[in-house]
Amino acid sequence: MAFILEDEFGDIIAKARRGLGLTVGQVATESGIEAKDISQMENYTKKPSRDEVDKIASTLQLDSNKLNAIATESWSPKATETKYDPSLEVITITAKVGGYPVHAYLLICTKTREAAVIDTAANPQTIIDRIDKININPKLILLTHAHGDHANGLQDLEDALNCPTWIHANEPKPRSQNDLQLLRHGDIISVGNLKIKTLDTPGHTPGGCSFYARSTVIVGDALFAGSVGNASISYEKLLSSVQENLLSLPKHTVLFPGHGPATTVEEEINHNPFF
Ligand SMILES: [Fe+2]
Repeated sequence: MAFILEDEFGDIIAKARRGLGLTVGQVATESGIEAKDISQMENYTKKPSRDEVDKIASTLQLDSNKLNAIATESWSPKATETKYDPSLEVITITAKVGGYPVHAYLLICTKTREAAVIDTAANPQTIIDRIDKININPKLILLTHAHGDHANGLQDLEDALNCPTWIHANEPKPRSQNDLQLLRHGDIISVGNLKIKTLDTPGHTPGGCSFYARSTVIVGDALFAGSVGNASISYEKLLSSVQENLLSLPKHTVLFPGHGPATTVEEEINHNPFF
Protein backbone atom coordinates (compact mmCIF):
# COMPACT_ATOMS: atom_id res chain seq x y z
CA MET A 1 0.00 0.00 0.00
CA ALA A 2 1.40 3.39 -0.93
CA PHE A 3 1.62 5.51 2.20
CA ILE A 4 -0.31 8.64 1.42
CA LEU A 5 -0.89 10.40 4.73
CA GLU A 6 0.14 14.04 5.12
CA ASP A 7 1.71 13.29 8.51
CA GLU A 8 3.81 10.25 9.36
CA PHE A 9 4.70 8.91 12.82
CA GLY A 10 7.53 11.45 13.23
CA ASP A 11 5.28 14.45 12.44
CA ILE A 12 2.59 13.21 14.80
CA ILE A 13 4.82 12.73 17.84
CA ALA A 14 6.60 16.06 17.20
CA LYS A 15 3.24 17.88 17.00
CA ALA A 16 1.98 16.23 20.19
CA ARG A 17 5.26 16.94 22.02
CA ARG A 18 5.28 20.62 21.01
CA GLY A 19 1.56 20.86 21.74
CA LEU A 20 2.13 19.70 25.30
CA GLY A 21 5.10 22.08 25.64
CA LEU A 22 7.64 19.28 26.20
CA THR A 23 11.28 19.10 25.12
CA VAL A 24 12.74 15.94 23.60
CA GLY A 25 14.67 15.53 26.87
CA GLN A 26 11.47 15.66 28.93
CA VAL A 27 9.82 13.03 26.71
CA ALA A 28 12.94 10.89 27.08
CA THR A 29 12.84 11.11 30.89
CA GLU A 30 9.13 10.38 31.04
CA SER A 31 9.10 7.54 28.49
CA GLY A 32 12.46 5.91 29.30
CA ILE A 33 13.53 6.14 25.64
CA GLU A 34 16.84 7.84 24.81
CA ALA A 35 16.55 11.43 23.58
CA LYS A 36 18.63 10.74 20.47
CA ASP A 37 16.23 7.93 19.51
CA ILE A 38 13.24 10.22 19.92
CA SER A 39 14.90 12.88 17.75
CA GLN A 40 15.64 10.25 15.11
CA MET A 41 12.02 9.09 15.19
CA GLU A 42 10.81 12.66 14.76
CA ASN A 43 13.20 13.00 11.79
CA TYR A 44 12.07 9.67 10.25
CA THR A 45 15.55 8.17 10.53
CA LYS A 46 14.48 5.57 13.10
CA LYS A 47 11.42 3.32 13.04
CA PRO A 48 9.93 2.74 16.48
CA SER A 49 9.36 -0.71 17.98
CA ARG A 50 5.87 -1.50 19.32
CA ASP A 51 7.19 -1.03 22.84
CA GLU A 52 8.55 2.42 21.94
CA VAL A 53 5.23 3.38 20.31
CA ASP A 54 3.40 2.44 23.51
CA LYS A 55 5.78 4.40 25.76
CA ILE A 56 5.72 7.51 23.56
CA ALA A 57 1.93 7.36 23.14
CA SER A 58 1.49 7.17 26.90
CA THR A 59 3.85 10.13 27.48
CA LEU A 60 2.24 12.25 24.75
CA GLN A 61 -1.41 11.39 25.55
CA LEU A 62 -1.90 9.72 22.16
CA ASP A 63 -3.81 6.50 21.46
CA SER A 64 -1.13 3.81 21.16
CA ASN A 65 -3.04 1.40 18.88
CA LYS A 66 -3.96 4.18 16.46
CA LEU A 67 -0.40 5.55 16.59
CA ASN A 68 1.02 2.08 15.94
CA ALA A 69 -1.19 1.64 12.85
CA ILE A 70 0.37 4.81 11.43
CA ALA A 71 3.90 3.85 12.54
CA THR A 72 3.54 0.53 10.72
CA GLU A 73 1.80 2.14 7.71
CA SER A 74 -1.13 -0.25 8.08
CA TRP A 75 -3.93 2.33 7.86
CA SER A 76 -4.98 4.94 5.34
CA PRO A 77 -8.48 6.41 4.99
CA LYS A 78 -11.01 5.05 2.53
CA ALA A 79 -12.97 8.26 2.03
CA THR A 80 -12.95 7.88 -1.74
CA GLU A 81 -15.23 4.87 -1.34
CA THR A 82 -17.77 6.96 0.54
CA LYS A 83 -20.63 8.39 -1.49
CA TYR A 84 -21.50 11.88 -0.47
CA ASP A 85 -24.75 13.70 -1.09
CA PRO A 86 -25.63 13.88 -4.84
CA SER A 87 -26.94 17.44 -4.42
CA LEU A 88 -23.35 18.57 -3.98
CA GLU A 89 -20.14 18.07 -5.92
CA VAL A 90 -16.65 18.62 -4.51
CA ILE A 91 -13.73 19.23 -6.83
CA THR A 92 -10.26 19.13 -5.32
CA ILE A 93 -7.69 21.41 -6.96
CA THR A 94 -4.14 20.58 -5.93
CA ALA A 95 -1.23 22.95 -6.50
CA LYS A 96 2.31 23.03 -5.16
CA VAL A 97 3.64 25.71 -2.82
CA GLY A 98 7.36 25.52 -2.06
CA GLY A 99 7.31 21.98 -3.44
CA TYR A 100 4.48 20.85 -1.11
CA PRO A 101 0.98 20.02 -2.36
CA VAL A 102 -1.93 22.09 -1.04
CA HIS A 103 -5.62 21.68 -1.86
CA ALA A 104 -8.22 24.29 -2.77
CA TYR A 105 -11.80 23.11 -3.29
CA LEU A 106 -14.83 23.90 -5.41
CA LEU A 107 -18.11 23.20 -3.60
CA ILE A 108 -20.77 23.01 -6.28
CA CYS A 109 -24.58 22.91 -6.05
CA THR A 110 -25.33 20.25 -8.67
CA LYS A 111 -28.84 21.63 -9.30
CA THR A 112 -27.95 25.29 -10.01
CA ARG A 113 -24.19 24.89 -10.81
CA GLU A 114 -23.47 27.77 -8.46
CA ALA A 115 -20.24 27.25 -6.54
CA ALA A 116 -18.07 28.38 -3.65
CA VAL A 117 -14.32 28.49 -4.13
CA ILE A 118 -12.62 27.48 -0.89
CA ASP A 119 -9.03 28.70 -0.47
CA THR A 120 -6.64 29.83 -3.19
CA ALA A 121 -3.90 27.17 -2.93
CA ALA A 122 -1.68 30.23 -3.62
CA ASN A 123 -2.30 29.46 -7.30
CA PRO A 124 -5.26 31.55 -8.48
CA GLN A 125 -4.57 30.82 -12.14
CA THR A 126 -4.82 27.06 -11.57
CA ILE A 127 -8.25 27.60 -10.03
CA ILE A 128 -9.37 30.00 -12.76
CA ASP A 129 -8.23 27.53 -15.46
CA ARG A 130 -10.20 24.71 -13.84
CA ILE A 131 -13.34 26.83 -13.51
CA ASP A 132 -13.05 27.82 -17.19
CA LYS A 133 -13.14 24.15 -18.18
CA ILE A 134 -16.34 23.24 -16.32
CA ASN A 135 -19.86 24.55 -16.31
CA ILE A 136 -20.11 26.35 -12.97
CA ASN A 137 -20.94 29.82 -11.73
CA PRO A 138 -18.65 30.81 -8.80
CA LYS A 139 -20.54 33.07 -6.39
CA LEU A 140 -18.10 33.55 -3.55
CA ILE A 141 -14.69 32.74 -2.08
CA LEU A 142 -14.34 31.23 1.39
CA LEU A 143 -11.04 31.05 3.28
CA THR A 144 -10.41 28.37 5.90
CA HIS A 145 -7.52 30.49 7.19
CA ALA A 146 -5.08 33.17 6.05
CA HIS A 147 -1.81 31.23 5.75
CA GLY A 148 -0.03 32.02 2.47
CA ASP A 149 -0.47 28.55 0.99
CA HIS A 150 -4.26 28.92 1.42
CA ALA A 151 -4.85 32.64 0.80
CA ASN A 152 -2.08 34.08 -1.39
CA GLY A 153 -3.28 35.32 -4.77
CA LEU A 154 -6.69 36.21 -3.35
CA GLN A 155 -6.83 39.54 -5.16
CA ASP A 156 -6.19 37.90 -8.53
CA LEU A 157 -8.88 35.32 -7.84
CA GLU A 158 -11.37 38.03 -6.82
CA ASP A 159 -10.53 40.01 -9.96
CA ALA A 160 -11.04 37.05 -12.26
CA LEU A 161 -14.21 35.72 -10.61
CA ASN A 162 -15.74 39.03 -9.50
CA CYS A 163 -16.69 37.42 -6.17
CA PRO A 164 -16.73 38.60 -2.55
CA THR A 165 -14.54 36.80 0.01
CA TRP A 166 -15.57 35.51 3.43
CA ILE A 167 -13.18 34.76 6.30
CA HIS A 168 -13.58 34.17 10.03
CA ALA A 169 -13.79 37.36 12.12
CA ASN A 170 -10.89 36.20 14.36
CA GLU A 171 -8.50 35.44 11.51
CA PRO A 172 -5.74 37.83 10.31
CA LYS A 173 -6.90 39.40 7.06
CA PRO A 174 -5.18 38.83 3.71
CA ARG A 175 -5.15 41.56 1.06
CA SER A 176 -8.48 41.73 -0.73
CA GLN A 177 -10.00 43.80 -3.55
CA ASN A 178 -13.15 44.35 -1.50
CA ASP A 179 -14.10 44.60 2.14
CA LEU A 180 -13.81 41.08 3.49
CA GLN A 181 -17.06 39.57 4.77
CA LEU A 182 -16.70 38.20 8.29
CA LEU A 183 -17.92 34.86 9.59
CA ARG A 184 -18.54 33.37 13.01
CA HIS A 185 -19.35 29.87 14.25
CA GLY A 186 -22.77 28.78 13.04
CA ASP A 187 -23.10 31.37 10.27
CA ILE A 188 -24.72 29.99 7.13
CA ILE A 189 -24.02 31.13 3.58
CA SER A 190 -26.17 30.03 0.65
CA VAL A 191 -24.70 28.93 -2.66
CA GLY A 192 -27.40 27.72 -5.01
CA ASN A 193 -29.46 25.28 -2.94
CA LEU A 194 -26.55 24.57 -0.59
CA LYS A 195 -26.39 25.99 2.89
CA ILE A 196 -22.74 26.19 3.94
CA LYS A 197 -22.27 26.38 7.69
CA THR A 198 -19.17 27.85 9.37
CA LEU A 199 -17.66 25.67 12.10
CA ASP A 200 -14.99 27.09 14.42
CA THR A 201 -11.77 25.06 14.27
CA PRO A 202 -9.15 27.46 15.72
CA GLY A 203 -5.76 26.54 17.17
CA HIS A 204 -3.73 26.22 13.97
CA THR A 205 -4.57 29.90 13.45
CA PRO A 206 -6.68 32.27 15.62
CA GLY A 207 -9.75 32.14 13.38
CA GLY A 208 -9.29 28.91 11.49
CA CYS A 209 -12.66 27.53 10.44
CA SER A 210 -14.26 24.70 8.49
CA PHE A 211 -17.11 24.79 5.98
CA TYR A 212 -19.90 22.21 6.29
CA ALA A 213 -22.50 21.45 3.64
CA ARG A 214 -24.64 18.31 3.60
CA SER A 215 -22.27 15.42 4.40
CA THR A 216 -19.09 17.27 3.46
CA VAL A 217 -16.69 19.49 5.41
CA ILE A 218 -13.70 21.42 4.07
CA VAL A 219 -11.45 21.56 7.14
CA GLY A 220 -8.37 23.53 6.06
CA ASP A 221 -5.38 22.73 8.29
CA ALA A 222 -7.39 21.91 11.43
CA LEU A 223 -7.24 18.19 10.75
CA PHE A 224 -5.33 15.88 8.43
CA ALA A 225 -6.13 12.21 7.96
CA GLY A 226 -4.69 10.58 11.09
CA SER A 227 -3.31 13.86 12.42
CA VAL A 228 -3.97 17.54 13.08
CA GLY A 229 -2.45 20.79 11.80
CA ASN A 230 0.39 22.53 13.58
CA ALA A 231 -1.06 24.00 16.76
CA SER A 232 0.70 27.35 16.33
CA ILE A 233 -1.91 29.19 18.43
CA SER A 234 -3.36 26.64 20.87
CA TYR A 235 -3.04 22.85 21.02
CA GLU A 236 -5.90 22.66 23.49
CA LYS A 237 -8.25 24.71 21.31
CA LEU A 238 -7.26 22.77 18.20
CA LEU A 239 -8.02 19.39 19.76
CA SER A 240 -11.18 20.51 21.53
CA SER A 241 -12.66 22.28 18.49
CA VAL A 242 -11.93 19.34 16.18
CA GLN A 243 -13.47 16.99 18.75
CA GLU A 244 -16.55 19.12 19.36
CA ASN A 245 -17.22 20.60 15.93
CA LEU A 246 -15.94 17.98 13.47
CA LEU A 247 -15.85 14.55 15.12
CA SER A 248 -19.37 15.07 16.50
CA LEU A 249 -20.81 15.15 12.95
CA PRO A 250 -22.50 12.06 11.46
CA LYS A 251 -19.97 9.26 10.97
CA HIS A 252 -20.25 9.13 7.18
CA THR A 253 -19.37 12.85 6.85
CA VAL A 254 -16.40 13.30 4.50
CA LEU A 255 -13.61 15.60 5.68
CA PHE A 256 -11.48 17.34 3.05
CA PRO A 257 -8.21 18.73 4.52
CA GLY A 258 -5.91 21.39 3.10
CA HIS A 259 -3.17 18.78 2.71
CA GLY A 260 -3.21 15.02 2.17
CA PRO A 261 -6.10 12.66 1.48
CA ALA A 262 -9.78 13.06 2.29
CA THR A 263 -11.11 11.07 5.23
CA THR A 264 -14.34 10.60 7.18
CA VAL A 265 -15.52 11.28 10.71
CA GLU A 266 -15.70 7.53 11.31
CA GLU A 267 -12.14 6.95 10.02
CA GLU A 268 -10.80 9.70 12.27
CA ILE A 269 -12.68 8.53 15.37
CA ASN A 270 -11.26 5.03 14.79
CA HIS A 271 -7.74 5.92 13.61
CA ASN A 272 -6.61 9.44 14.59
CA PRO A 273 -4.19 9.02 17.56
CA PHE A 274 -4.92 12.56 18.85
CA PHE A 275 -8.53 11.55 19.73
FE1 LIG B 1 -2.02 26.50 7.47
